[in-house]
Amino acid sequence: MAQKFPFTGLSSVALHAAGGQNAADAHLTPIYATSTFTFDTAQEGMERFAGSDKTRVYSRWGNPTFTAAEETIAALEAFGLTDEQGQPLQLKALLHASGQAAMTTLFLSNLKTGDALLSHFSLYGGTQELMYKVLADTGIQPILVDMRDLNQVASALKQNPQIKLVHIETPANPTIQCVDIAAVTQLAKAGGKLVSVDNTFATPYLQQPFRYGVDFVFHSTTKFLNGHGTAIGGVLIGKDIERMKTGIWKWHVLLGGNSNPFDAFLLAQGMKTLELRMDRHCSNAMTVAEYLAKHPAVAQVNYTGLSNHPDHAVALKQMKHPGAVLSFELKGGLEAGKQFIDRLQMCVRAISLGTVDTLVSHPASMSHFGIPRDERIKYGITDGLIRMSVGIEQVNDILTDLEQALQ
Ligand SMILES: Cc1ncc(COP(=O)(O)O)c(C=O)c1O
Repeated sequence: MAQKFPFTGLSSVALHAAGGQNAADAHLTPIYATSTFTFDTAQEGMERFAGSDKTRVYSRWGNPTFTAAEETIAALEAFGLTDEQGQPLQLKALLHASGQAAMTTLFLSNLKTGDALLSHFSLYGGTQELMYKVLADTGIQPILVDMRDLNQVASALKQNPQIKLVHIETPANPTIQCVDIAAVTQLAKAGGKLVSVDNTFATPYLQQPFRYGVDFVFHSTTKFLNGHGTAIGGVLIGKDIERMKTGIWKWHVLLGGNSNPFDAFLLAQGMKTLELRMDRHCSNAMTVAEYLAKHPAVAQVNYTGLSNHPDHAVALKQMKHPGAVLSFELKGGLEAGKQFIDRLQMCVRAISLGTVDTLVSHPASMSHFGIPRDERIKYGITDGLIRMSVGIEQVNDILTDLEQALQ
């Protein structure tokens, strides 16, 4: 169906942006479970190899089920935005097997030996490890500063002309720190740098980094975009369409981090309810944060929706709502953290985030158990810290579970 009028809401985009991948009039884009595609003639094969649309050659290069998910993500990130000529912003997304695979394509396609990368000092652990354990070994230097302090950003850019890419993760995992995308992008662009944003925690419903002139947006689609915890995935979205289809696509296919049709299908279904899910996730998270802030067993709540959070103003400036992930500190330390986790009856004990059900983890005894205590405390992972990805359950049931577990 050809769209003849501009959509006014994100759900309309999520439901109708993808098109042209349906075989046999299927309502939903099918799972094209095929490694390769057939050609009727040598001429047709030649045209498909030479053309810019590589979705019907070989599934490492592309696949119609990937395309359906890619078109939806690109449309969600571009929704309501215009380019420098005032035309609707066009974006190109490349779906990957994981967030880590998409991040690898982002870094390796934009940086080479001798270059440096500037980022925030509080990042998702896998991103930080990729920078220090992979990029550093290839001669690409990671430089991490507190990007919430714009003077640190300006001076790092001035002192290190070899910086080629400025990578922002906001809100950051797991500290929920927020970096001012507009201000950092302005500094980076004044020096001619590329800018990428990890938008995993916010999703395009809450925050659209392309509004501020960034070059790339990244997601671990494993989280809110999929929404149901059914598949690992990642996506890299860019506004230089030609480069995304050629130079960056080349890195993507040669590194081999392609998605698979089943996971792409699950992602495409999940994104259809993004707006509805996020509304409920966010209102539940605000209620939970306010409840925890008043609880006598809780020393501190880290949630940018609370006015006492240091990043409250930045979060409000660039996000529609502060989101659905929060952490809190139990007064009783390590033992209290373990007991709290053990007593939960509905909230799920698991790492990861962004699923429809509430996930709760205790980093000191789980994800960060192997990291020496002094080191994890430096990153804010204290003994009694609990991380919560607030789900879409009836909020009173979440509060009841927390209340009985906190006693
Ligand atoms: C902010 C952020 N970026 C990147 C990643 C990596 O994504 P994946 O686990 O899908 O490879 C994660 C995973 O938790 C994340 O939270």
